[in-house]
Amino acid sequence: MNILVTGGAGYIGSHTIVELVNAGHTAVVIDNLSNSSSESLRRVESITGVAVPFYKVDIRDREGLERVFDENSFDCCIHFAGLKAVGESVVKPWEYYENNIYGTLVLVDVMRKHGLKNIIFSSSATVYGDPAVIPITEDCPKGMCTNPYGWTKWMIEQILADLHAADVKNGCKDPWNAVLLRYFNPIGAHPSGLIGEDPSGIPNNLMPYITQVAVGKLEKLHVFGNDYDTHDGTGVRDYIHVVDLARGHVKALDAIEKKCGVGVYNLGTGVGYSVFDIVGAFEKANGVRIPYVIDPRRPGDVAVCYSDPRKAMSELGWKTEYGIFEMCRDSWNWQKNNPKGYGK
Ligand code: NAD
Ligand code: UD1
Repeated sequence: MNILVTGGAGYIGSHTIVELVNAGHTAVVIDNLSNSSSESLRRVESITGVAVPFYKVDIRDREGLERVFDENSFDCCIHFAGLKAVGESVVKPWEYYENNIYGTLVLVDVMRKHGLKNIIFSSSATVYGDPAVIPITEDCPKGMCTNPYGWTKWMIEQILADLHAADVKNGCKDPWNAVLLRYFNPIGAHPSGLIGEDPSGIPNNLMPYITQVAVGKLEKLHVFGNDYDTHDGTGVRDYIHVVDLARGHVKALDAIEKKCGVGVYNLGTGVGYSVFDIVGAFEKANGVRIPYVIDPRRPGDVAVCYSDPRKAMSELGWKTEYGIFEMCRDSWNWQKNNPKGYGK
């Protein structure tokens, strides 16, 4: 299939392109490079031997999108483009709604004008808010998001599901197909060490913070709370290797090909690790020490969040292959080989 990948220069997008090419698909990338560098695409080419066409286009730019559609013919869109910093979204809600929701509306409008009604969307475990049930299944209560970023994910899920429902109701012969993938906590990097996560400024998320401590850029890790009701008092999450996550998108394409309608899937391992578990695993895998201090809890954090991934396993035929050792090994391999990231 020929896939339009929005946000393809970013962390998950670049890893997904490698897996798309490995599976025999072709890809065309659009990205405005607001949180990435086209260097990632050059690295993807080194890994795969395939140069992926790239358009520096913003998804809110209708004319830019029209040009991409005039010059290409697509079978599906994998839609990664969006702003993703939870804390920033609380300070700049308008920017998040405008970029993520308005951007998706423009994209979807241009897609349907060009007869493309297949989309795979990057959603997030954040749609579950403080989860009512652990492990989290797809039918857990949702829509109690705690920040504007989360609301954009939940609203876009609704928009795509409504487009499909309206087509069905109207007796449309060719209704929208949408696979909504709810990612848990992606970490790790391609085992080659050529592509990985390249956050701007001081990282908000745990693993990039740890790798920056390991490389000497940051002095010590701040552990946000050790008084949670968990096995060691620190927060528990479902970390997933980004290559496993990327392969989930390739499996989702099969569902699109079978005209799945709306499919909703958790992409996680189903295993929860605490902050201390991750620090210990990182030290063991890489032989480096991570100094830390205990800080107060981070506002908005939940104690425990991990998935039940069985729906994706049974319906998509997907399963994770990498464990915590590989996640820690590959995160460090990327960081130590690229202490300045892509230098963006
Ligand atoms: P990323 O920031 O590395 O990638 C997103 C890409 O989208 C960037 O390259 C950025 O330049 C681009 N972009 C942003 N706004 C755009 C616009 N208006 N037009 C064109 N390009 C635009 O982030 P990522 O970690 O690769 O995340 C990809 C997607 O997955 C995002 O939608 C994110 O919300 C979602 N997600 C990520 C995580 C995570 O932990 N990384 C978890 C759950 C969901
Ligand atoms: C965060 C987002 C979530 C998003 C996910 C993936 C928040 C509140 N939530 O999830 O919406 O879907 O990223 O992008 O930002 N921790 C520390 N010290 C640190 C950083 C983190 O102790 O410097 C702890 C946190 O308290 C948490 C765990 O590490 O227990 C994981 O944190 P993080 O990597 O930020 O992911 P989430 O909070 O799960």
